[in-house]
Amino acid sequence: MNLLSAKNLSHSFDYELFSHISLDLQERESIAIIGISGSGKSTLLNILSTLLKPEQGSVSLFGEEISEMSKKRLSQIKRDDLGLVFQSHYLFKGFTSLENLEVAAILSNQSVDEELLKRLQIDKTLEQKVTELSGGQQQRVSIARVLTKQPRILFVDEPTGNLDKITANEVMEIFFEYIKKHDAGMILVTHDEDIAHRCDKVYKLINKELVQLS
Ligand SMILES: Nc1ncnc2c1ncn2[C@@H]1O[C@H](COP(=O)(O)OP(=O)(O)O)[C@@H](O)[C@H]1O
Ligand SMILES: [Mg+2]
Repeated sequence: MNLLSAKNLSHSFDYELFSHISLDLQERESIAIIGISGSGKSTLLNILSTLLKPEQGSVSLFGEEISEMSKKRLSQIKRDDLGLVFQSHYLFKGFTSLENLEVAAILSNQSVDEELLKRLQIDKTLEQKVTELSGGQQQRVSIARVLTKQPRILFVDEPTGNLDKITANEVMEIFFEYIKKHDAGMILVTHDEDIAHRCDKVYKLINKELVQLS
């Protein structure tokens, strides 16, 4: 099944970032987008994940075009089906790790996966306030929180920035297993080519175009 289909996307801020970009994501598929800093990777991910309206072009999720969805349908999809792992973590700052995870579990009617917390090495941080954690630990709590709600599409922006190589690889392994187990898909933005090439397809945002490398 086609999870996401983007057609003819163009966007500019002070200058044109990209034009006529198209992209499809299937179930159980992982796509990486690389490109130099400032090339528009995060902007593209914001458009694909419904956070930003493209100047031109359209994005469909699960066969429905975003621009034609009612507000209610769009917020339902955002809440239930989309998982955003972005650099700004949006954790609830006054709360502990566990409280952050429980909020996600309650909202989505799922349970917190203890095994996942162990693999992310945050099982010992559960009683700590998230503001007491390192950047890398906060990042892993936010990854656990996103996966707890069991989304159909993961949108991931520079997930391994705060992580050492071994932890970064483990996080990637968790993402790959997740999308296979849940028939989900992932679009990942990174400047790390090693990480990118572990995905099924790799695209590069260069000269305003999205070029498929593999
Ligand atoms: N909300 C915004 N308003 C104005 N300019 C923006 C905005 N978001 C991004 N930009 C500009 O667009 C360009 C691409 O940014 P971004 O998509 O974050 O690139 P990347 O993620 O590839 O580093 C940058 O020059 C950035 O300053
Ligand atoms: Mg970026």
